[in-house]
This record gives sequence, C-alpha cells and structure tokens, in this order.
Amino acid sequence: MSDPLAYHNGDFLPLSQVRLSALDRGFLFGDGVYEVIPAYGGKPFRLNQHLARLENSLRAIRMEPPLSPRQWETILKELLQGQADQAIYMQITRGAAGKRDHAFPAVTNPTILAWATPMSDEIPQPAKAITHRDIRWQWCHIKAITLLANVLLRQQAVDRGCQETILIRDGHVTEGAASNVFAIIDGIVVTPPTGPHLLPGITRDLVLELATGHGIENREQNLPVEALTSAEEIWLTSSTRELVPVVEVDGHPIGDGRPGPLWERMYRIFQSYKRTFRGLP
Ligand SMILES: Cc1ncc(COP(=O)(O)O)c(C=O)c1O
Repeated sequence: MSDPLAYHNGDFLPLSQVRLSALDRGFLFGDGVYEVIPAYGGKPFRLNQHLARLENSLRAIRMEPPLSPRQWETILKELLQGQADQAIYMQITRGAAGKRDHAFPAVTNPTILAWATPMSDEIPQPAKAITHRDIRWQWCHIKAITLLANVLLRQQAVDRGCQETILIRDGHVTEGAASNVFAIIDGIVVTPPTGPHLLPGITRDLVLELATGHGIENREQNLPVEALTSAEEIWLTSSTRELVPVVEVDGHPIGDGRPGPLWERMYRIFQSYKRTFRGLP
C-alpha cells in the first residue's frame, strides 16, 4: 500500500505517521468540514471554487478559515507529486479540547489535514441507483465531515447491488448520497436548484456552465420523484467520478437502459475541457 505525503498542522509527513488526539472534536462529534479537489496533470481543478466552498463551509460552522487560499495553494503544490490524476482530500476540524463538551472550546486550535490519493481516469461505468427518503439534517449545503446518514444511505444502494442512492425530500430529488443529480426531461438538462438541502457541487456547476456554453438547454428546477422514472437520462456528478450515467433506478431502466446520447456528448465536452486545462491540444 502506498503511503502518501500528508500535511498536518504545518508539517509534511507520511500519512501513516499522522497522529491525532482522541479528544479531537472531529472524532468525537464530527465537528468539522472537508473538501475534495481533483487534480489533472499535477494542477488542482477548479481550485478557486473549491477553496471558496471550503471557506463557506467553515464560516457556516462558525470557524475562521485557518489558512488563506495562497497558503492552501502552496500546500497543495507540495502534496501533488507527478502528473497522474489525483484527488486531494482536505479536512479541518475544531481541534482537540481539554474535555468532551458539545459547546465550543474557549480557544480553538483547529486540526488541518490534507493528502492526495490516485484517481482513476477510466470512462465511468454506468450506475444503478435506488431512491430513499433524505434522512439527513437541514444544512446539507455545508460539506460537513458528519457523514453517517450519507454512509448508511450509500450502503443501502450497495446492499442491493447498486452504486448510488438518490435522495428524496418532500417528494423532490435533492441529490445523491455523494453526488449531485441531473435528469434529462424533454431533451432539457434539469438539476435541482441549490439551497440548504443539497451540496452546491463544483462538478454540477461546471456541467451547467459547459452545457450553456455548448448551446445545450439546461434548467435549475425542482425534480419531482416521479420525473425520475420518465426521464430520458439521469446523470450523477462529483469531483472524483465526474459525470456518471445512471441506467436503472429502483429496478426500472432509464431510457433504453444504456448511457444516453446527451450523456455521451456532455462527457466528451467535459473531457475536452479537462484536456485544455491540462494544457493539451
Ligand atoms: C452529498 C454530496 N453532494 C454532491 C457532491 C458533488 O460535489 P462535487 O462536484 O463538488 O464533488 C458530493 C461530493 O462528494 C457529495 O458528497
């Protein structure tokens, strides 16, 4: 097993050698936030957007950002060795306090941890999904490390031989357990609007931006659960899996049960955008 270089509170060291306090509030309460940034050709992708979201998540949990975007950039440069596709995982918790107490400590010494892991550059396999009531809390726009509900929801999909759980709140799709959801309805790319019930996905925003740039009609619009079964196509987006076609939901085939033509087009547009980002023709 490889042992990637990690950044931990000012030090660079092998990930296996990072030591955290048992009283870390991340461990005790899930009191922290995180980011996952893909890197192509050794360069972090959509860095400003990811760092802005990290700052929003921190402020939403009443933490001052402990590092500036410039400081993060320097750290990421050090962690990203080589040109292979990688994903950088960054986590900030409210640190360790003297005793276990839900209320914030008088002084916060945050725990900051980051490391890079290899990312596959293979074409995504079509996914099967299930739907489930969105049992999470009301502040899903925060990228909180408190992911127990997401873990249990994703496992329900895995238990049924599927890859993702599409979450339903008050009759409408919010997002996936670890992805945003798109549906193609009457040829239009539709995704639920951002708000407190879903993460404002960086890949989601890029897909909307690329669709607009290529004249593909798109809308941010509520998606009733019934729209899933009649949709021509369904896609999932995330930083590590990019753009995944969903071919089955709750056992019903989507379209003809194969990745659709609009997914193929959008996937090509996405890959071409990445090639330009890498500086390739
Ligand atoms: C709950 C949830 N929604 C959406 C996403 C997609 O966000 P992004 O495209 O920024 O990775 C993720 C990513 O892991 C997620 O965990």
